[in-house]
Amino acid sequence: MTLDPLPIGASQPLREAWQLGNSGRLPRHVAIIMDGNGRWAQRRGESRSAGHQAGADSVRAVTRTARRLGLQALTLYAFSEQNWSRPQDEVQSLLRLLVQYLASELSEMRRSDIRLRALGNLARLPAPVRMALDATLQATQGHCSMTLSLALSYGGREEILHAARHLAQQVADGTLDVAEIDEARLQRALWTADLPSPDLIIRTSGEQRLSNFLLWQSAYAELYFTPVDWPDFRDDAFAQALVDFTTRQRRFGGIEPK
Ligand code: IPE
Ligand code: IPE
Ligand code: MG
Repeated sequence: MTLDPLPIGASQPLREAWQLGNSGRLPRHVAIIMDGNGRWAQRRGESRSAGHQAGADSVRAVTRTARRLGLQALTLYAFSEQNWSRPQDEVQSLLRLLVQYLASELSEMRRSDIRLRALGNLARLPAPVRMALDATLQATQGHCSMTLSLALSYGGREEILHAARHLAQQVADGTLDVAEIDEARLQRALWTADLPSPDLIIRTSGEQRLSNFLLWQSAYAELYFTPVDWPDFRDDAFAQALVDFTTRQRRFGGIEPK
């Protein structure tokens, strides 16, 4: 792979990640649990929504870097199915930020040939949000240098349940035989159908759990936890996580590293 050169003055971790990218050693698909916006804001005496706002800038920075380093897929956990239980005003401010983000990033997605996808129970999003999302999904459909997936109103259990119901319906309709249900078919019934499984899952803010993220897909993902809160997670922290990934030995149940 030949990556475009980094800007002059790029930091040491970024340059190291760039070299690894050029030799094809970086993960293909990175998924991130973007956590810690609220605590970041609280520490500064600011509102939780100020934390989410700063988090949106990290989304921009990390997406740009992922593209620059040649990743094929970046999946960001932006809003969980369980996050609907937060106070109304926080949910509203997150949805508002999402719409702003979609409007402000379309030109960058065009310039960088990034395709946007959305995973989750999207029917639960309010109509105007859904419309803004659909418009961006459509506008970026033909792009293929990197797939950026936003997990919105997403839950891993809900996703598996949805797939199970979908397959059960086909069996009930007589269009699918129970014996035909295998891993590949279940995988295709998930919201991530056309994405490779994540090679690396990063969680910020010091929490060490998946919180209902990509439960099926994470079976053999490498996990990386960092104490850095999401609004502070920028190029260097991201590059460090990618470099760390290259030191892991993946065996997939066998005895030889793969
Ligand atoms: C992550 O930050 C953003 C979302 C879950 C939407 P949090 O809002 O969970 O921040 P903390 O965990 O309360 O610090
Ligand atoms: C996970 O973070 C969801 C997102 C990052 C969107 P939470 O902050 O909701 O997770 P818990 O509640 O700490 O497990
Ligand atoms: Mg949190």
